[in-house]
Amino acid sequence: MKNSRNVLITGCSSGIGYHCAHAMKRAGYRVLATAREERDVFRLQKEGFDAFELDLDRSESIDRAVEWVEQVTERRLYALFNNGAYGQPGAVEDLSREVLRAQFETNLFGTHELTVKLLPMMIEAKEGRIVQNSSVLGFTAMRWRGAYNAGKFALEGLSDTLRLELEGTGVYVSIIQPGPIRSRFRSNALEKFLTNIDREHSRFSKLYEKKLRQLRSDEDAPFTLGPEAVAKALLHALESPRPRTRYRVTFPTSLFFWLGKILPDRAMDTILRRVE
Ligand SMILES: NC(=O)c1ccc[n+]([C@@H]2O[C@H](COP(=O)([O-])OP(=O)(O)OC[C@H]3O[C@@H](n4cnc5c(N)ncnc54)[C@H](OP(=O)(O)O)[C@@H]3O)[C@@H](O)[C@H]2O)c1
Repeated sequence: MKNSRNVLITGCSSGIGYHCAHAMKRAGYRVLATAREERDVFRLQKEGFDAFELDLDRSESIDRAVEWVEQVTERRLYALFNNGAYGQPGAVEDLSREVLRAQFETNLFGTHELTVKLLPMMIEAKEGRIVQNSSVLGFTAMRWRGAYNAGKFALEGLSDTLRLELEGTGVYVSIIQPGPIRSRFRSNALEKFLTNIDREHSRFSKLYEKKLRQLRSDEDAPFTLGPEAVAKALLHALESPRPRTRYRVTFPTSLFFWLGKILPDRAMDTILRRVE
């Protein structure tokens, strides 16, 4: 019965996670909505969710959340939507080891730790869905996005291996690759840019001014869609008897996918250099 199926989503405070929590609830799932700030957890509880604190950067937080999931679901978790993440802007040469590590802590290591701690429940039940929120930047490199590119490329590699290793268990792994989606992503990235990148002493200081204006702007990037486009892919990944390995969401994702297949690297670079 779909109604009894539990779906855990990370990063439900805003954007895609918040929208998908509501959309999956409407679709009949019991959504375990997680967020890293207490105030967001309270807000989600008030909105009728089973909500809990989960900070991907801290193993203790992951452990507490896994324990909570085991209790409230009686060890029956149908799906995990690994959505929580952030983007660290900045040229590769301006990334310190700590800043790059922090990007990986959230977007890869925390996501991996949570996944492997929840996976035994799905394997025991002989069914489950793991859905990774990657990005067009999980397969296409763009300037000023090296840290985020690296984390999402790594997430894609890890997910492909996991999919192969889970064959025959009843647990499916799908990757969603959104292009620009309306959310709080840009303002959260702005904060990371201001905090972690020494813009003044960079070879790119002039370009960074433009980048700042872009991150501060409310204007949508071309072909931006609302988070419902991701919810649609997520629902397919949860409900199809044969979920896709990848869901490309938005026109730029499909375009760059096909260009990447047919163009040599140098030709692709010429196109990608135009993307700010
Ligand atoms: N928007 C886009 O254009 C776009 C495109 C491609 C892929 N994506 C992917 O979509 C996913 C959701 O992003 P979004 O666009 O919805 O942006 P968003 O509105 O900024 O949401 C990101 C969510 O991740 C959470 N998060 C950040 N660090 C975390 C941590 N350490 N532990 C747990 N949660 C954490 C945030 O929580 P706080 O509020 O506490 O920071 C927030 O709930 C991400 O994986 C992102 O890479 C987005």
